[in-house]
Amino acid sequence: MKEKILGLILVALFIVSCGPKSIAVTGPKYTSSEQINQGKTIFESSCTKCHKLPNPQKHDNQGWIKTLSRMAPKAHLTDDQHQMVYDYLISVNKK
Ligand code: HEC
Repeated sequence: MKEKILGLILVALFIVSCGPKSIAVTGPKYTSSEQINQGKTIFESSCTKCHKLPNPQKHDNQGWIKTLSRMAPKAHLTDDQHQMVYDYLISVNKK
């Protein structure tokens, strides 16, 4: 019994310490048109600095999580901007 409780405490500590500290984008969050539009604006202004504006159709929802995690730091986006761009992309990629 003691071991079980100790085990539970350890598991709880593990979950707390490994929880999402910086809220990296792992899925959709924003749905309001205001935030989606903001995401579009950020996308169109920040993602053309190094290459042509990518086609949102290029990736599905899962693919954009990966690609954006590589590109958002390049574009110096905050976590929130990263999230809004992601939500914009998946709102138009139709996947
Ligand atoms: C500092 C320059 C830079 C900025 C800013 C930048 N990119 Fe990129 N991007 C690159 C480079 C270099 C490559 C090619 C090498 C690679 O794929 O990592 C690339 C490749 C890509 C690709 C093709 C590869 C793939 O995984 O499909 C996509 C899509 C893309 N970028 C999207 C974006 C988006 C969206 C943004 C805005 C958040 C952005 N990029 C901002 C430099 C940049």
